[in-house]
Amino acid sequence: AGSVGGFKVADLSLAELGRKEIRLAEHEMPGLMALRQEFGPQQPLAGKRIAGSLHMTIQTAVLIETLAALGADVRWASCNIFSTQDQAAAAVVVGTEGTVEEPRGSSVFAWKGETLEEYWWCLEQLLTWPDGSGPHSIVDDGGDATLLVHLGAEYEAAGAVPDALADDPEEHRIILDVLRRSLVDNPGKYSEMAKFIVGVTEETTNGVNRLYRLGKEGKLLFTGINVNDAVTKSKFDNRYGIRHSLVDGINRAIDVMIAGKLAVICGYGDVGKGAVASLRGQGARVVVTEADPICALQAAMDGLKVVTLDQVVETGDIFITTTGNRDIIMADHMARMKHNAVVGNVGHFDNEIDMAGLAQVPGIEKTEIKPQVHEWAFPDGHSIIVLSEGRLLNLGNATGHPSFVMSCSFANQTLAQISLFDPAQNYGTDVYTLPKHLDEKVARLHLPALDAHLTELTKVQADYIGVDIEGPFKPDHYRY
Ligand code: NAI
Repeated sequence: AGSVGGFKVADLSLAELGRKEIRLAEHEMPGLMALRQEFGPQQPLAGKRIAGSLHMTIQTAVLIETLAALGADVRWASCNIFSTQDQAAAAVVVGTEGTVEEPRGSSVFAWKGETLEEYWWCLEQLLTWPDGSGPHSIVDDGGDATLLVHLGAEYEAAGAVPDALADDPEEHRIILDVLRRSLVDNPGKYSEMAKFIVGVTEETTNGVNRLYRLGKEGKLLFTGINVNDAVTKSKFDNRYGIRHSLVDGINRAIDVMIAGKLAVICGYGDVGKGAVASLRGQGARVVVTEADPICALQAAMDGLKVVTLDQVVETGDIFITTTGNRDIIMADHMARMKHNAVVGNVGHFDNEIDMAGLAQVPGIEKTEIKPQVHEWAFPDGHSIIVLSEGRLLNLGNATGHPSFVMSCSFANQTLAQISLFDPAQNYGTDVYTLPKHLDEKVARLHLPALDAHLTELTKVQADYIGVDIEGPFKPDHYRY
């Protein structure tokens, strides 16, 4: 119905609620709104088909409508089965001009609580416009949309199944079905698609790691822009975003008293630092596990005890993984935990906590307390509480990061998408970060809302430290 090129969301009648929340979010997203003002008249994304695979939240709705305001034809799916806010998805489909009967917004394929099968179906829909054409560019978070295009192209070229579709056997089977189906219905679909894709702008650490790996193996099929490592992304969203949304997730899930409890944070990178601040802010006693000596030393000098998981697995009350790595908390660990210890993950994928191993413990019983909160009772009588089935709990149990910090991330996304189509950039098939002057621009756009006043350098001062009065204020090697 309407002029939307297909959609599947939970309930379009939630659009009015979604629109009210989007209106409030817009006020808290000065970066995105400023970019609409600045680039609206030029329409730098006119006629560009953009496929986005990123948590379908209220904040993402403001990103989608920003890309559309700059001329793009946008389709969207979520990058996590639990992270969609159904009112946001509905509002984006209805759009500002449409109605529930006659939607006029963008195509969204996302709802809270997808099965894995549905998740990959949504990604397929994401990449195919009604006339059969594919996207000119991708906005990705974690890299699943990019992965699907690459796997599809590899499968078509080799006629054989690429090695690693997914670690999880169930997910492996699902992706294989998607590829086989496409080969039967539309042979050459993904190879053709890859040729037309100018590039991807990747939101998160895990997805960026995948891009660099593809690049290193010589398999990358288009330009990658690493949005995550913009300073105004990873040093803000990963850190201050998690500081806000981790306790939000825990509280909405179980509302257990955090003060005084022993909280174990696995990983002390950007997300780990935010997670520690989040739980410390609630008065928890926080300890950290790390593999990297630099991050371990940082933790120690921040006054945190650095431990191995084995040392604290019996005494910890709350366990949070933030590593972006696999096999961090295993079933044996969970078997040794205290009664009703809380276990959750805020790293991108669900392989940080060994959910498959947990389900296979002989005699274990799983009880749903409510969606995304499960009690796992071991035969010895003790239980643990697992949040969001081991998937991103800040998005599964709560609503993810707040608008203001996402405005920083998404302003970078918008600038990255604009730069993909800027012929002056002359990008190759490689992974790039945005230039520092854009990073500083994103920060600058957010200062007035916080009543922050910059000091202007004199010419003498600027010369003395070797920078321009207008910036950039730091060399590229500076680490913040
Ligand atoms: P990072 O690379 O800065 O930090 C990860 C840290 O974990 C590193 O310091 C690493 O040494 C450590 N680590 C790796 N293996 C370990 C092990 N076995 N035991 C202990 N520590 C280990 O990455 P960042 O930016 O902090 O991201 C972490 C994860 O969070 C990624 O999966 C990322 O995609 C995700 N993320 C999630 C967000 C959310 O909203 N939930 C927001 C942003 C990122």
